[in-house]
Amino acid sequence: MNNSDSNPRVLVVDDEAPVWELLGEKLGRSGFDWQGCSSGEEALDWLGRKHFDAIISDMKMPGMTGLKLLEETRKNHPHIAFLMATGEDDIRVAVEAMKLGSDDYLVKPFHLDAAVGSVRRALEKKLLEAELEKYREHLEEIVDQRTRQLQIASKRIEHTYDDTLEALGAALDLRDTETAGHSRRVSLYCLEIARAMGCTLEQLKTIARGAYLHDIGKIGIPDSILLKEGKLSSEEQTVMQTHVRIGYELLSRIPFLSTAAEIVLTHQERYDGTGYPQGLTSEEIPLGARIFAVADTLDAMTSDRPYRQALPFSTAREEIIRESGKQFDPDIVRVFLSIPEQTWGNIRKEVAGVRGRMGNLARGGLRPSVREVQVQ
Ligand SMILES: [Fe+2]
Repeated sequence: MNNSDSNPRVLVVDDEAPVWELLGEKLGRSGFDWQGCSSGEEALDWLGRKHFDAIISDMKMPGMTGLKLLEETRKNHPHIAFLMATGEDDIRVAVEAMKLGSDDYLVKPFHLDAAVGSVRRALEKKLLEAELEKYREHLEEIVDQRTRQLQIASKRIEHTYDDTLEALGAALDLRDTETAGHSRRVSLYCLEIARAMGCTLEQLKTIARGAYLHDIGKIGIPDSILLKEGKLSSEEQTVMQTHVRIGYELLSRIPFLSTAAEIVLTHQERYDGTGYPQGLTSEEIPLGARIFAVADTLDAMTSDRPYRQALPFSTAREEIIRESGKQFDPDIVRVFLSIPEQTWGNIRKEVAGVRGRMGNLARGGLRPSVREVQVQ
């Protein structure tokens, strides 16, 4: 056997030794290393001991046939080029061998130059296949890597979103300390109703953000009006009502808050068209704003006011029923009524707990809870 480290190695299998000797010598003269053997069993033995790039195997041999050897080779050495040698009358079997994974077939008696050409082509084919395989694996690796990077980036973006929400919320809290717990409770009440209505995750996010920031426009209202104790004059009320547009203008410029901005703009609309700023009716009002209207009334009535104590949830419930079809969308009122009353009390306690734990840092105390709203 001819031997060099860089030459391709071919195993020639034929039960007639003179056949593999003749072909082997030709391969040797053509720059191949080669090994001959006389049976399929012997061939498998060689394959277990040494590396080969190609096999030329006779089809008809006593003991293990060429087809069986092909099958065994494909199991453990899929990258070896396999060429099946058949007699002229066995072409149909040769085609069968190709179907089973043979890379080419040679017709006996061998035309030696053609046989060497076939081995070269089969080796090139295997090389291409291996390169393609490597390329595919590399692509998969790149896709996996990019997917991981995207996941990390989108998590970071979500956190940035939350931080932006928190910063905006904190900005309003500085002006109007009453809103802090209110914004969070209303946001959670809205989520509860929206979930029961079967809203999508995207809708839930929009509604939670819109509800949380509904009064953000109040940062543009002068202190003399925003912090005034006692009743506002009608001019002052007109100025106060501009907070919905100020809030909308502010948020609609922030891409991830542009849909929530719609809720901010319409959070004072009423189902019967008597709200502001546009006097929209029924379905003209975005779903999130219609849900918000119910949640806002629920929270306003069940919170202490300078002029009265908090009312029980049952009283708020009666008021909401009374206003169904007027201030509120009857479908949303129906869903609201299907949610157990204690749910609202639990949310109120939960928000009070977060704020209480944070003491004077009440504004900061909202921050973890906002993130919670986003991921719920
Ligand atoms: Fe408002």
